Amino acid sequence: MAKIAIYPGSFDPITNGHLDIIKRIKFLFDKIVIAVNDNPLKSFLFTASERVEMIKEVLNDSSGIEVESFRGLLVRYAEKRGARFIVRGLRALSDFEYEFQMDLMNRKLNPQIETVYLMTRQSYSYLSSSIIKEIIKLGGDTPSLIPDSVKKRLQEKFN
Ligand code: PNS
Repeated sequence: MAKIAIYPGSFDPITNGHLDIIKRIKFLFDKIVIAVNDNPLKSFLFTASERVEMIKEVLNDSSGIEVESFRGLLVRYAEKRGARFIVRGLRALSDFEYEFQMDLMNRKLNPQIETVYLMTRQSYSYLSSSIIKEIIKLGGDTPSLIPDSVKKRLQEKFN
């Protein structure tokens, strides 16, 4: 049976930290589905289709990788895609509580689906999409933290 993993997130926008996780999980699973959360109750800077497009633009080698947006419960989406794994990246200690809560909830909703965690690389441990948005909005630079195409999109958005 093919090992399919969902890598979910807001990706508003994708950062080099996310890309590093994608690069590392490619060798662990047969197929990765990057699932962009399109929750209508949450406000994002980029629309779901923009976020999907930006991810597709920056994937160097997209063999075995799909990018799609999803609405509703993550586990229901994973079931629909035939995935038995969810992947999450873990940064500083502050991620732990939220991730633990999601893990327990998702496990209750479907005990067959296992969430696996990858520790972030040290250089990305304090990187977040929110902090990137703030820096670009205020005219700062973010060398080697986001792809150039993402930086360009952010600058366009804020101009
Ligand atoms: O990048 P993020 O914002 O930390 O990703 C959070 C995400 C998309 C994984 C989470 O909000 C999610 O799974 N949303 C879908 C709705 C859902 O299933 N909620 C219950 C999880 S406990």
